[in-house]
Amino acid sequence: MADATTTPPVDQTVLAEALAGLSQACKTLPPKLFYDEEGCRLFRRITELSEYYLTRTERGLLETAAPSVAAAMLPGALLVEYGASDEDKAEFLLRERHASGIAVFAAYMPIDVATEGLEQARARLNRSYPNLRVHTMTADFLRPVALPPTFAGMPRLGFFPGSTIGNLEPSDARRFLAQVRDTLGDSALFLVGVDLRKDPAVLIPAYNDAAGVTAAFNRNMLVRLNREAGADFDVDAFSHNAIWNETKGRMEMHLVSQRDQVARIAGKSIRFTRNETIHTENSYKYTLKDFAALASLAGWRACHVWTDARCLFSVHLLASD
Ligand code: AVI
Repeated sequence: MADATTTPPVDQTVLAEALAGLSQACKTLPPKLFYDEEGCRLFRRITELSEYYLTRTERGLLETAAPSVAAAMLPGALLVEYGASDEDKAEFLLRERHASGIAVFAAYMPIDVATEGLEQARARLNRSYPNLRVHTMTADFLRPVALPPTFAGMPRLGFFPGSTIGNLEPSDARRFLAQVRDTLGDSALFLVGVDLRKDPAVLIPAYNDAAGVTAAFNRNMLVRLNREAGADFDVDAFSHNAIWNETKGRMEMHLVSQRDQVARIAGKSIRFTRNETIHTENSYKYTLKDFAALASLAGWRACHVWTDARCLFSVHLLASD
């Protein structure tokens, strides 16, 4: 009999999402299952890896872009960040001041599912920017959100850094961009970080680092299912694989079964043959032209783009006009 004091209750949402993906002919797991506490910790470590060029390159671009973006904003503006796990990147913008000395942004609205992270960010920002109105919103940013009436009439800048847009299917990315366009309305700007297409010799190590942090991040999904969905995956019997899919223009992450095996999850048996994979994530990589075209289909006009000398990453400023 299970020990009720040590066995956590099954999380029905996690279980339903996992079962839906694992019951398909080509098995998948939804990437949002990566981000439990341990997954968030591992992802932070990924962003510090020498192979994972995305975060440090984007930070350099944001530092360069911030004064120009600020100069394009009317005073008393609102910054809306989509999927804000912390305020780290927003601070490049929040610290900007007009020539008169007045802060460019009067209000900041970070949107994320993690209430605790948002509250911690609010507390830090209240200390560093006492005059900034911080309005946190706990929500899945992929669903339509409405701006609170108190922000009506303020100049608006949307912010979606990190190339999280690359984790969406292009059709979903277009839908998301159009939705942000609707939320922010006319005369808004939108700053989006987008990873660029490049030599797979650079891409593959970024998603399969020498220290094995990304492998641990990928396998942690199975650890989570064992803990939260009553599964019994033999985690060590799955290896991490990262491949470049040239046709689709995306990096893919997979968990590869090392042998024929059966895992049980909530009373259901999931069979794996040797080398069969669970597809856990896509990271689409865009060309500058392709991303501008996608944004344009969603009602945005490309205003400016910043890229680094090696053209690894891009930061796009879009306008809704
Ligand atoms: C969050 N996202 C932009 C990351 C990426 O690069 O696609 C997630 C990640 N997966 C493996 N490493 C990092």
